[in-house]
Amino acid sequence: MENEFSYEDYQKTAGWLLSRIEHQPQVAVICGSGLGSLADRVTKAKIFDYSEIPNFPRSTVPGHAGRLVFGLLENKPCVVMQGRFHLYEGYSLLKVTFPVRVFRLLGVDTLVVTNAAGGLNPDFEVGDIMLIRDHINLPGFSGQNPLRGPNEDRFGVRFPPMSDAYDQDLRQSAHNIWKEIKDRRKLQEGTYVMLAGPNFETVAESQMLRILGADAVGMSTVPEVIVARHCGLRVFGLSLITNKVILSYESREKASHEEVLEAGKQAAEKLEEFVSRFVSSIEPVCTK
Ligand code: HPA
Repeated sequence: MENEFSYEDYQKTAGWLLSRIEHQPQVAVICGSGLGSLADRVTKAKIFDYSEIPNFPRSTVPGHAGRLVFGLLENKPCVVMQGRFHLYEGYSLLKVTFPVRVFRLLGVDTLVVTNAAGGLNPDFEVGDIMLIRDHINLPGFSGQNPLRGPNEDRFGVRFPPMSDAYDQDLRQSAHNIWKEIKDRRKLQEGTYVMLAGPNFETVAESQMLRILGADAVGMSTVPEVIVARHCGLRVFGLSLITNKVILSYESREKASHEEVLEAGKQAAEKLEEFVSRFVSSIEPVCTK
């Protein structure tokens, strides 16, 4: 069996981008549903539509623009991915995670992932931000793993550890920055569980996820994080809680994509402020 992309495919895309940008990015940010307006804060922006980048998949979901924005976030050279790829769109996990390996080849050392997620933890309110401390790769339990297939040793080892997937120092520094922002709500922290989607969960499924120890549920992020850790990127993740997951049959509420986008809009400014302050504070990884 061969992988869908060769090492040279990733190199080709990285080379194409490198020859067109001024600032080599240190940090890459993947924006979740409705959170793409962070890219508006990027200065000296150089923007590429996914459709013009060699080998890049296209984004099909409303609320995801489909552009790579290179430039500066408060003077930190970065690349912001406005619109990600999801398993439920029909992409293979190698397509979903293609940009992450390209970022690695561009010289990125830290990946920031954001997503919209449903709150399973009863203490969470709509609009809360949760730092991702850990994840549960539910599709991975049935073999849906982006690292399935021959290992590309130039990116990483066959059996990468995942017990330290989300960098502890970055989480600590995010808590410090949150204190400066003085929001009325505390910064939550917890476990994100990924489901393949695209349907939202049944009540029984949601109850099961809570029993498994998950605090928030969504349909993304985990494949990108696995591939990022495999190729040695440091990872920081956060979820915007856009809805409370229905855990009781008494409830008359129903989850919808519109509700998710609306909550994203409401919280966008707070989230952008937090993420851009945080990104600008990230020190380069010391490679010595
Ligand atoms: N479930 C799954 N994915 C989601 C949800 C949810 O409730 N909210 C936003 N993304």
